[in-house]
Amino acid sequence: MVQPVWAVVVAAGSGARFGRKKQFEQLGGRPVVEWSVAACRTYALGVVVVLPEGELTDDFGADAVVAGGPTRSASVRHGLAAVPADVEVVIVHDAARPLAAPSLFAAVLEALGEPGVAGALCAVPVSDTLKRVAGDPAVVVATVDRRELWAVQTPQAFRADVLRRAHAGGDEATDDAALVEALGATVRVVPGDTANLKLTTPEDLARAELLLVG
Ligand code: CTP
Ligand code: MG
Repeated sequence: MVQPVWAVVVAAGSGARFGRKKQFEQLGGRPVVEWSVAACRTYALGVVVVLPEGELTDDFGADAVVAGGPTRSASVRHGLAAVPADVEVVIVHDAARPLAAPSLFAAVLEALGEPGVAGALCAVPVSDTLKRVAGDPAVVVATVDRRELWAVQTPQAFRADVLRRAHAGGDEATDDAALVEALGATVRVVPGDTANLKLTTPEDLARAELLLVG
């Protein structure tokens, strides 16, 4: 395993689909973002938490607090700027995934240690039938072959130099791996976990509470 490892937890979103800033909602008596920082702590020596502008009074257990940007990619860039220059491996994790298990962090870091690998992410094969849909009222355009399709989660781990290069152009993507892929670098995939819920709506928070009580 490569050392030292730091993590960037992005928690600067506005929670438009949730209806409010979901990262500050209580889950099992602690704010969601505090869970996500603690999850990173299992393998990261240092954690940077990226919070909404004007809401930087609590560190939620992180070592450094920075303000986010208008997009997720911009928020990652702000966080990355606070990671010490000698750090070799950076984990990026969404605050919106508070239940990420330590085993997921271990798995992405182990995959990153393989020769020639610049990034590693966890993902689960898509199990629903997928269709391309268009129009209003909506009609099916095509059925998509799902055999090669995986739903991607965080944590994602990267060689720090490659991640910095991927973000240097200020490009936008819905995850960091996409920017690393665009460099032509190899991103490994390891099995994710359906319990690693992404909080998008209030129903997801209720499901997370249920998972916690087991
Ligand atoms: N995020 C961020 N900065 C942004 C946008 C998103 O740090 N400008 C973070 C969110 O806080 C979240 C993660 O990126 O932890 C994934 O984003 P998402 O689930 O889309 O959260 P929101 O953008 O807050 O939600 P919505 O898209 O519904 O507004
Ligand atoms: Mg968003």
